[in-house]
Amino acid sequence: MKIVVLNGSPKGDTSVTIHSVNYLQKKFPAHEFKILNIAKRIKGIEKRRATFDGIIQDIAAADGILWAFPLYLLLVPARLKRFIELIYEHGARAAFAGKYTAAISTSIHFYDHIAHRYIQGICDDLDMNFVGSFSADMMDLIDEGERERLTQFGEHFLSTIQHHHLTIKRYHPLVWSDFTYLPEAGSHSIEAGDKKVLVITDAQPQDNNLQHMVDRFCASFAAEIEIINLNDLKIISSCIGCLQCGYDNECAFSERDEYNPFYIDKVLKADVLIFAGTMTDRHLSALWKTYFDRSFFMGHFPSLTGTQLCFIISGPLSRNDNLREFFEGYAGWQQANIVGFVTDEVENSQEIDTQLQELARLGIEFAKSGYVQPATFLGVGGHKIFRDDIWGRLRTVFQADHRGYKESGGYDFPMWDVPTHLMAAMGSVGMNIPVVREQIQEMLQHGVSFRHRKIVEKA
Ligand SMILES: Cc1cc2nc3c(=O)[nH]c(=O)nc-3n(C[C@H](O)[C@H](O)[C@H](O)COP(=O)(O)O)c2cc1C
Repeated sequence: MKIVVLNGSPKGDTSVTIHSVNYLQKKFPAHEFKILNIAKRIKGIEKRRATFDGIIQDIAAADGILWAFPLYLLLVPARLKRFIELIYEHGARAAFAGKYTAAISTSIHFYDHIAHRYIQGICDDLDMNFVGSFSADMMDLIDEGERERLTQFGEHFLSTIQHHHLTIKRYHPLVWSDFTYLPEAGSHSIEAGDKKVLVITDAQPQDNNLQHMVDRFCASFAAEIEIINLNDLKIISSCIGCLQCGYDNECAFSERDEYNPFYIDKVLKADVLIFAGTMTDRHLSALWKTYFDRSFFMGHFPSLTGTQLCFIISGPLSRNDNLREFFEGYAGWQQANIVGFVTDEVENSQEIDTQLQELARLGIEFAKSGYVQPATFLGVGGHKIFRDDIWGRLRTVFQADHRGYKESGGYDFPMWDVPTHLMAAMGSVGMNIPVVREQIQEMLQHGVSFRHRKIVEKA
C-alpha cells in the first residue's frame, strides 16, 4: 500500500517527528511511506498551483494519509494550518474524502490533545476515515517500549486500511451562519484612564462581521483605541523551530521583520488585549497561528501575566470547544485573565452591541482592579510540565527560560518547600503508629479547615 505522509514540521527531513515515520517504514517495508514536506515547502505550495496540485494527486492516489506534525503553541504549526486552508481555498476536498487517515505527533505533551482533536476535526470535515492519533513525547523513539507501541500503532493503521474496517466520526460539521451584523453607533462612554487597550485583528475586507464588531467595541471607549491588523504587519515567516531564541529570547527573524518589535513594544505593554478573528476551518486563520507561533521567542515563560484578554470571534465558537480550550489553555499558561468571548452567533445586532460594550467595560474594570481568575487544571498542569522540562532536559537549550524560572520563583518544586516536606516526613512516620493515625484521621474529619476558619474569623 502507499501511505502519503503530510509532514507538518518546518524542519522537513531533520524533524524529530518524521523519524518515527522513518521507523515505521523500516518496520513495514512492504508498504511505501511517501513523505511530503508540506510545512517546509509551504511558500512554494502557496505560490505555485502546480506544486499544490501535485500533492493533491499524490493524496488521491494513496491508500492512506498520515498527518505527521510537531506541537507548536498548543496546535499544529502555522504552516500546516495554512496547507489545510489551501485545501478549502482550492476546492481540493474530494481527494481526501473516503481515505483512511491517522495522525502522529511529537511534543512535550503540552496541549497535544488540542492539536490532535483539531486534526481529527479536519479529517471528519474532509469526510476521511480517521483511524487514530499517536501522540509521542519527543524522546519516545529512543525508548524500546515506546518503539513497540509505535509499531503497534503502525500495524493497527495499516491493517484497518487493508481490511476496510469501520471508523466512527467524532465531530459534526461546523455551520457558518450568513447573518449580517449591523451595529448601532457606540456610546464612547468608557474611560480607559491609564490602561492601555490594544486590539489585534486579522480582518480582511470580506470579514464584515468581524470588522464591524471590532469597530463597535472600540466605539465603546471615550478615547481612540489602537488597532493592529496582522495583515499590515511585516511578518516574513512563521516560526521554523530553529530554537535560536532559547538562549536569550532573540528570534532569528527579529531584525528582518516587524513581529518582535510589535510584540515587545505593543503586546507586552497592553493592559487589555483583544484578539479578534474569524474562524477559519476549526481555528482562527493561519496568520493568527503565525502570531502565536512567533511568540515562542519569549520561551516557555508567561509573558502576559496579569493582562486582560478579550476575544471577539466571528464564527460558530460555541460549537467548537476545542478552540475555546486553546484560548483558555493559552491564557492559563500566560497567567492572563480571560475577560470574555463575544461572537456573532446570537444573530442579533443589538445584543452583540450590548455584549461588546460590556466586554469593554469589564476589561477596564478588571485591569484597574488587577483581577486574574485562579488557574484551573489548564494553567496549573501546564506550569508543571514546563517547570519540570526547563529544569531538566530542556535547560541547555532554553537558558533564557531557566534564568526566568530561577528569578521569578517559577521552580516551585514541592521538595523545596522545607516545612511541608518535614511535616509530610513526620506525618508518614506517625501514620504507622495506630494512636497517632487515629488522631490524624480525627483531625482530617474535623480539622482540615482549621486554618481557614481562623482566617475567616480574623477577616
Ligand atoms: C515554536 C515551537 C512551539 C512548540 N510548542 C509546543 C507546544 O505547544 N506543546 C508541546 O508539547 N511542545 C511544543 N513544542 C515542542 C515540539 O513539539 C517538539 O520539540 C517536537 O518534537 C518537534 O518536532 P519536529 O522536530 O518534528 O519539528 C514546540 C516547539 C517549537 C519550536
